[in-house]
Order: sequence, then structure tokens, then C-alpha cells
Amino acid sequence: MRLVVVGSQWGDEGKGKVTDFLGQKADVVVRSQGGNNAGHTILIGEEKFALQTIPSGIFNPHIKNVLANGMVINPKEALKELDNLEARGINNYQLFISNRAHVIMPYHIMLDGGYEALKGANKIGTTKKGIGPCYADKVNRIGIRVGDLINEESFKEVLTNTLPIKNKELAMLGLPTLEFSDIYNEYKEYGKRLSKYVCDTSYLLYEEIEKNSNILFEGAQGSMLCLDHGSYPYVTSSSPTAASVPVNCGIAPKFIDHCVGICKAYTTRVGEGPFPTELHNELGDLIRERGHEYGTVTHRARRVGYLDLVVVNYAKRISGIDSLALMLFDVLTGIDELKVCIAYELDGKEIKTIPATLNEYAKCKPIYIDLKAWHSDISKIRKYEDLPIEAKDYIETIEKYTNIPVDIISVGPERTETIIRKDVFKK
Ligand code: IMP
Repeated sequence: MRLVVVGSQWGDEGKGKVTDFLGQKADVVVRSQGGNNAGHTILIGEEKFALQTIPSGIFNPHIKNVLANGMVINPKEALKELDNLEARGINNYQLFISNRAHVIMPYHIMLDGGYEALKGANKIGTTKKGIGPCYADKVNRIGIRVGDLINEESFKEVLTNTLPIKNKELAMLGLPTLEFSDIYNEYKEYGKRLSKYVCDTSYLLYEEIEKNSNILFEGAQGSMLCLDHGSYPYVTSSSPTAASVPVNCGIAPKFIDHCVGICKAYTTRVGEGPFPTELHNELGDLIRERGHEYGTVTHRARRVGYLDLVVVNYAKRISGIDSLALMLFDVLTGIDELKVCIAYELDGKEIKTIPATLNEYAKCKPIYIDLKAWHSDISKIRKYEDLPIEAKDYIETIEKYTNIPVDIISVGPERTETIIRKDVFKK
């Protein structure tokens, strides 16, 4: 079976826990887009691991972990992540990196900061990892791919062609320019260390599909951060949708069997941009503290709001979500003013989709339904029937307004603190 996991909000929905959980049944785990702007926190026993580039299957020696062609990879940071894992005893793994993935170079990181500064008050609030400038070079056909990085001659040639252009761009932004030899010497060493992992991952995936392996495509970011369908321009520079998986991995669309949308029981976002259900009050602060809503990558405090089902329905439409995994449900225990947004009001009219322009989106007012709170601890519950009636009502409201079954409910950070209503990842 081939299963795609997508974020159905603005990222940080808790995909790490679900991919880790479902990954126990995977033969292959694939990251298809983004780079080290993503952050997955995985709890294994007492140990907490924060992954940014490396897929969550890395902890299981039987799993093939793939970084596919749609990714942008910072070789220095990826190696640091592997070194950190090694230092904590994780050294028996299978890792495959696409020779067609693009390389995040030091000038991309500098340009990310430079363009953000230039935008001033209109900055995107990026993670400053060089993601946007790296994808921009890919589109502009001046990118450096992993296949080039690991081949000294190719690397010399592409860097010779690219660096003068990037130095002009750096100078234009008032940033220092870079020396060819410094970058070449440093990065060719990273290439040497990574070369043992590099291959044609599209071919590898094709062979795994032929063998009928269980393949888990783990999404990074969320649908509302999609470059095409998200709250543009406050988005990332790739498409975190199920539709992007085939292109980003070099597989045919017909091979995707099921899509699980990860949905936090409330909404958060980092960075700038409209957020209709945002809570600017003590309740927002309470949820932030209870849910530990601080970025894994940038440590920024996340903005917090009520669950927005317009957003979830939008994600359902663009990704074809078949099941929902409801995350951090326990965080809402004891919250008396529970609300869920089911539509927006825009210029006196009710709408149920996301407007294309920022201007219109910023004017949208949420239309809520009120729900009743539950007060007992739900973190020990493992059967849906045992949940308090009010908690079941919250879940059934989501199902009613999205028409998607909530098949997984997370009631705590541990793998075991999960209610499974349906096995969504079968052999
Ligand atoms: P970039 O991906 O660093 O270019 O950042 C663009 C926008 O996407 C910013 O608002 C970031 O905060 C947001 N973003 C990028 N990656 C993640 C993620 O993994 N979770 C949540 N937000 C993200």
C-alpha cells in the first residue's frame, strides 16, 4: 500500500508522531518536498529526537528512508543530523538521497535573510534556511543538484557557472560575496561523505512499488503553506499536497492509494499572514503553553486559534484526504469556551472556501459553532467509546462538517497515547 500523510493546516500538526506511528508498518519512508525548514519531534521511550531533513523511519534498520528529488537538501545540516543521531547510538539505518534533489548552498541562506530584510514589514517570516532561494534557482535553472555535488568535475563546472550570478545578487542586496575556492573545497567534502547514499530514488521507488512494499510518503509543512494553493505569499516554496508527491518522487499518480490528513484539534501557524480564527487572548496563551506551541526549527512562539474547518475542507479538496488523524486532542481538555469554525463571512456573504487574495482573506470573519467542554483526563483512553460524550461530539462535529472519518486520535505525545479507529495502513 502507498500512503501519503499531509498536513491539513499551516504545518506543525503533529505529522512526526503519525509518521513514526504508521512507519512501524512501512518498508519505505519518503520525504518528497521541502528541506530543513521542517521539524519533526519524535518521542521514543524517554528519548526525544528532533529531525529536520532525515525521514522518521531512520530509527528502524529495516526501513528504507528516501529523500526524493522534490527536496532541497542542505548537505552540511543533513550530515550534522546524521552525526547527532550517530552520537546517540542510531547508526544502523538505510538512507537514499535522490541525485536530482537540489542543494541548499550558503548563498541561498544569505539571500533568504537578505530578501526578508528587503521586504521589511511585508516579510514572510521564513525559517531562513535558504528554502525559497534554492527552489528559485531550481526554477531559474541555475540550481546545483545532489548528483553534481558528489561529482567533483560536475560540481566545479556548475559552481563556476552559478557563483558569479549569485555573487551579483548578493552584492545587489548589500551582502558579502563568496569565494569560489572556499565553497568548492568545503562542499566537495560534504559531497564525498554523502555520496554513498545517493542514487536514482525514482527507480528505487518503482522497484518497491513492483514488490508491493508498504510506502509511507511523509509530508512536510501543511496545505495552507502550499506555493500554489496556500495563503500566498505567506507560504513555503514547494507544494505540501498529495498531488505533488508523484512529481516530487518520480512515481505515477495512480500509485497513491490513501491520503491521511493530519489535523491539530485547534489551529496554529508560524510566520506572517491572515489567520481568521486566531486567539489574541489568555485562551490562546493557555493552548500555546499546554500544546508546547513553539517551533522545532526556529523556536518561535506559534500563533494559536480555534479549529478552522474551512481550512481542513480546503486541504481535503486539494489533496483528496481519505482519513483524518486528530492531534493534540488532550490539549483541549477543560477548555470551556470551545468553538469550531465552519464557514467565513466575507463582505456580508457566507463562504466555505479560502479566497485567493490576501486582502479578502484578511477580511474573513469566522462563523463558529459552540461546543461543550469535557473535564476528565482523556490521555489514558485507548477506545473511542470510552471518551467523554463532549469529546465524541467534538470529533463527530469534525466528521459532520468535513465528511472525512477521524480514524486516528492522539491523546498524548507518546506512540501509545493514541486511539485507533481504523487501520489505515494495510499490507
Ligand atoms: P520557508 O519555508 O522557510 O521559506 O518559510 C515560509 C513560511 O512557511 C514561513 O511562514 C514558515 O514559518 C513556514 N514554514 C516552513 N516550514 C514550516 C514547517 O515545517 N512548519 C510550519 N511552518 C513552516
